[in-house]
Amino acid sequence: MATALCPGSFDPVTLGHVDIVERSARHFDEVIVAVIRNPQKAQSLFTLEERQEMLAEVLSHLPNIRIEFFKGLLVEFAKDHGAESIVKGLRAISDFDYELQMAQMNQQLTGIDTFFLSTSPQYSFLSSSLVREVARFGGDVSSMVPPLVAKRLAERYGDASREA
Ligand code: PNS
Repeated sequence: MATALCPGSFDPVTLGHVDIVERSARHFDEVIVAVIRNPQKAQSLFTLEERQEMLAEVLSHLPNIRIEFFKGLLVEFAKDHGAESIVKGLRAISDFDYELQMAQMNQQLTGIDTFFLSTSPQYSFLSSSLVREVARFGGDVSSMVPPLVAKRLAERYGDASREA
């Protein structure tokens, strides 16, 4: 059985993430959406449980995915879960340097391969951090995140954006 990891912070999950997971799920028997527990980013907007809940809801149409948390090295998590591949979305050339470096480091560590999917053009500008920023100041993110996530962002930032 071919298992792949789609790792990330998912704070919050965007339509770009959903697109990459959906397309990965067509190519692998099983896809583990691996949510990092110890992101270097100091402040998270949503708790791990909230992120998991949103992911589970927006990916519920995919029978061959599961959502797991991990901490430490991704390659160790991959080994423990029998995943032979990592799938990442590449939005622009600016992603490439760092993603290539991580892919090569991971390959060096355990031999795991990383597959890059080109992000669908309509999502090439999207990132969770920009979505958070737009939502924080009351901007419309409904074309960038699933409706459930847009609702959660509005609830989280509702008061703050009215004050800003
Ligand atoms: O959504 P993000 O924040 O861009 O995801 C980055 C993530 C979690 C995929 C990356 O930071 C990662 O794989 N971290 C795990 C730690 C690790 O294995 N580091 C060595 C990578 S070469």
